[in-house]
Amino acid sequence: MNIPPAERLIVALDLPDVTAAEKLVERLGGAASFYKVGYELALAKDGLAFADRLARAGKKVFLDLKLHDIGNTVSRAVERAAERGMTFLTVHAFPQTMRAAAAGRGKSKLKILAVTVLTSWDDKDLAEAGYTMSVSDLVLKKAGQAKEIGIDGIVASAAEAAMIRRRVGGETLIVTPGIRPAGFDSGDQKRTVTPKDAIQAGADYLVVGRPVTAAPDPAAAAKSIGGEISAALK
Ligand code: C5P
Repeated sequence: MNIPPAERLIVALDLPDVTAAEKLVERLGGAASFYKVGYELALAKDGLAFADRLARAGKKVFLDLKLHDIGNTVSRAVERAAERGMTFLTVHAFPQTMRAAAAGRGKSKLKILAVTVLTSWDDKDLAEAGYTMSVSDLVLKKAGQAKEIGIDGIVASAAEAAMIRRRVGGETLIVTPGIRPAGFDSGDQKRTVTPKDAIQAGADYLVVGRPVTAAPDPAAAAKSIGGEISAALK
């Protein structure tokens, strides 16, 4: 897909308050142009106003709110996110929710990403929740439904990216967290891959949190990941 390499790095602003997020964005300067705002920062004081400011300043914003509710509520929430100038918004990959999100997005520039099966779930968790499918079967089923419904992209671990790419073809975006540059501590992430391997597995965008946010020099870390992404695309 024709996405500028510099835009493929999405820095996850998993920070407790707007002051910390502003400081980090300032330190990153031109080294990052795409930011993910999740539950923590969105629900912090003035968190959504901060997301609006980022968008107004020309940055792209991925609002990771993983919506899931009755269709009418989801459609209307998605319309509001589109009005705010957000670039990506996540919803859970249930058909009714995805159809409502696609309707709410309409012809706006907002792209809807579907979360198939959370990576903290394994087959046992699915069975406990009443599913009879394995994680990988359910991921593929949901990815196929997302594509049929007209969802723009899928959030997937790099381990799932290649099989999802085969299922959905080239048009659907694949956005991949769990990235660790070689030599970086994987922390609580269990299955991590390098930026290069994620791109080679078919990811379009990489979501990176701590390897950038906890780096002594976040701009240098972001630039180095950006360089690895560009090299992997050649
Ligand atoms: O700090 P780290 O790079 O591990 O952050 C990864 C980001 O991606 C976090 O915001 C996390 O919530 C998100 N994420 C993830 N795994 C998923 C979905 C989202 O790590 N399956």
